[in-house]
Amino acid sequence: MSILPCPVQPSLSRPGPSRRFSVAPMMDWTDRHYRYFARLISRHTLLYTEMVTTGAVLHGDRSRFLGYHPQEQPLALQLGGSDAQELAQCARLAEEAGYAEVNLNVGCPSDRVQNNLIGACLMGHPQLVVDGVKAMLDACSVPVTVKHRIGINGRDSYEQLVDFVGQVHEAGCQTFIVHARIAILEGLSPKENRDIPPLRYEVVHQLKADFPQLEIILNGGLTDLDAMQQHMQTLDGVMVGREAYHNPYLLADVDRRFYGDDAPVRSRIEVLGALRPYIAAHLEQGGAMHHVTRHILGLFQGLPGARHFRRRLSTEIHRTEQPLALYDDVVEDMIGRMRA
Ligand SMILES: Cc1cc2nc3c(=O)[nH]c(=O)nc-3n(C[C@H](O)[C@H](O)[C@H](O)COP(=O)(O)O)c2cc1C
Repeated sequence: MSILPCPVQPSLSRPGPSRRFSVAPMMDWTDRHYRYFARLISRHTLLYTEMVTTGAVLHGDRSRFLGYHPQEQPLALQLGGSDAQELAQCARLAEEAGYAEVNLNVGCPSDRVQNNLIGACLMGHPQLVVDGVKAMLDACSVPVTVKHRIGINGRDSYEQLVDFVGQVHEAGCQTFIVHARIAILEGLSPKENRDIPPLRYEVVHQLKADFPQLEIILNGGLTDLDAMQQHMQTLDGVMVGREAYHNPYLLADVDRRFYGDDAPVRSRIEVLGALRPYIAAHLEQGGAMHHVTRHILGLFQGLPGARHFRRRLSTEIHRTEQPLALYDDVVEDMIGRMRA
């Protein structure tokens, strides 16, 4: 196995996971079941949890919010919050729980989170991010990273972006995951905020040119591995969200392309086989099969039978009393279709 050279100066970074390729934090999507499934396809991809608020970690069901299967590693916890003391407590708990990284959400534009000073609105309050990052770095020894936008409405100039990154870097953050569009904090839904403000990759490349010592990860609208590798000529990594969810077998080529690991990759059918014991264990604990299988509907995206697979697992599943028998039948069906 050959690991490709990384442009970051390692002496500046805390030891941590490689971020050459990661799957973005996505609420309701990148839960532990999706992550377990994704890990069956790629060994090296860095996975992120959904955003967990500091309040949920500190006052909620901790095993629910911090729990994961050890096979999900390398795994980063994304926190939402702005109170430095609370962020510090959560960072400590994240380290104790074995997370490889703690990430602060400074990119999510939802109203619900703005009211609590969480997410993209924090780009307008750099001092809160500075204080939070410092407190987290003091509280744990894993890397602390920040995921943010290139700006927010009313604070969207390049100088303001440089000011934000510069201040947060001074606080000790070495890694910036940059969603290459601004967030519009009023009038657009979170979904619209992921599509409407135009992507401006050139801004992220400029940031890397101006902060060559930082690890700069590009996020937003990436779907094609060749194009991602092009960005990697100058940037340090790519983070993929929706495409990794809707077309998860994209991850099958990541270990070879981004990590130089030529070890054999599971076929789609082998992935389904490897997922079966996990589903069986989940059922035994009283869970429902669709908690897991709702995340795998895109596995055959682009292949004959993709729609059939999706339909059987999303409709028949709610009618059956024998979910594993249905699963086996769907797998058999797909084996037949792949052979045809
Ligand atoms: C359903 C969904 C939920 C998301 N939840 C989060 C989140 O919890 N934290 C976060 O930082 N970004 C969240 N995002 C934004 C993604 O992490 C990512 O920045 C965005 O989708 C752009 O990347 P993409 O074009 O590759 O999807 C979410 C996106 C989607 C589609």
